[in-house]
Amino acid sequence: MKKQVLTGIKPTGRVHLGNYIGAIKPALELAQNEMYQPAYFVADYHGLTKIHDKEEMSQLSRGIAATWLALGLDPEKAIFYRQSDVPEIFELSWILACFTPKGLMNRAHAYKSIVEENAHTGRESDTGVNMGVFTYPILMSADILLFQTDLVPVGKDQIQHVEIARDIAENFNHTYGDTFTLPQHVIEKETAVLPGLDGRKMSKSYNNTIPLFEEPKKLQKLINKIKTDSTPPEAPKNPDDSIIFTLYKEFAAEDQINEMRSRFTSGISWGQAKKELFDVMNARLEEPRQKYNELMETPEKLNEILQAGAEKARQKARPFLEEVKIKIGLQ
Ligand code: ADP
Ligand code: TRP
Repeated sequence: MKKQVLTGIKPTGRVHLGNYIGAIKPALELAQNEMYQPAYFVADYHGLTKIHDKEEMSQLSRGIAATWLALGLDPEKAIFYRQSDVPEIFELSWILACFTPKGLMNRAHAYKSIVEENAHTGRESDTGVNMGVFTYPILMSADILLFQTDLVPVGKDQIQHVEIARDIAENFNHTYGDTFTLPQHVIEKETAVLPGLDGRKMSKSYNNTIPLFEEPKKLQKLINKIKTDSTPPEAPKNPDDSIIFTLYKEFAAEDQINEMRSRFTSGISWGQAKKELFDVMNARLEEPRQKYNELMETPEKLNEILQAGAEKARQKARPFLEEVKIKIGLQ
């Protein structure tokens, strides 16, 4: 039996290097392994917790789908779909909600940090929180548990959500016997948190991102903006302490990486290091960027692929959801 791997990206902004290195790249690498059955999707209803503009939603959602495909996801091998096209997820989400202690949601980090921020600024505790934000981890648990997922490749900030999915699964299994597979997160250790331009975690929320498919000129400009220290150009630099080297490693070949490592220790200027980072990044991203742009210009084609994927997902989901409903006495 193949192990089920599943991950989703929510359309709340343009895909950036943090998303790529922390979540998409490791997920695509796992998909290469014959031992795994990948299911990768656009978490558009998770995006709806934040995006309330029709055009923006449609554009961002297409952007996520095009990104997966441009980076080499094979929709024949993977189950590739839009979350909103698979209603079974939402049916399961309600069932799971009834096995979720409210306190578990109070502790979920996205909700908790808004409440803390509100307390800090003297606002009412739930200001700015819609119920989608509050129950976000339940929907994510449904995403994961519906497909009997074994492994969930994500960035560090999502570990808590995968643990919540396990907790909810255990609650259900405890009552009705072994039903849900208990999922495990998979983290790319070294780059679990990729820093952004300002050194904080790269995130849409901090406006410090480098979009993955940025046009070359803008990409170069953004790379030049990466914060560095005031070490003189010829002074030795610690490669393992540098976001420039961290990024370089993600895009360069083995021998280039070794060479760059020794140039860091013997002294390379930040300007030169940035230039070479741009060169390897641009070389690697040129082709996917073009594919991405093509897909964005042919929404019908994208739609067709997603619809076929949703059908595949539903075929897998339906019988399992029936099983769950039988267990709770609804069939
Ligand atoms: P953002 O923080 O920009 O809103 P998302 O929450 O949409 O990003 O994250 C999508 C995926 O990318 C998740 O698996 C998340 O853990 C991963 N990810 C996001 N930012 C980073 C980062 N800076 N480093 C590593 N992984 C990240
Ligand atoms: N919550 C994830 C994020 O913010 C996106 C997501 C939704 C997801 N459902 C998922 C990730 C299921 C992994 C598995 O990035």
